[in-house]
Amino acid sequence: MDLILMHPSHLIALACLYIATVYREKDSIAWFEELQVDMIVVKNISMEILDFYENHRLITDERINMAFNKLAFKP
Ligand SMILES: *[C@@H]1O[C@H](CO)[C@@H](O)[C@H](O)[C@H]1NC(C)=O
Repeated sequence: MDLILMHPSHLIALACLYIATVYREKDSIAWFEELQVDMIVVKNISMEILDFYENHRLITDERINMAFNKLAFKP
């Protein structure tokens, strides 16, 4: 997840707000229009965030523990 290297923080924050408004089924179109931000960029960032959490969900505790165990054995 290299969002912070690719996008300014205010757009990442707006993407989080966008996800929250969609999740809670709030009508935020007018609010975002007033900000005059490029909603394609905000939506792209939102998709990247959701993709991250979707992929993160697939990493089980077992896999994390295996990775930590491997690290522990490194000299
Ligand atoms: C949005 O994402 C699509 C697909 O990943 C990409 O092709 C497009 O260039 C992106 N647009 C912007 C404005 O970031």
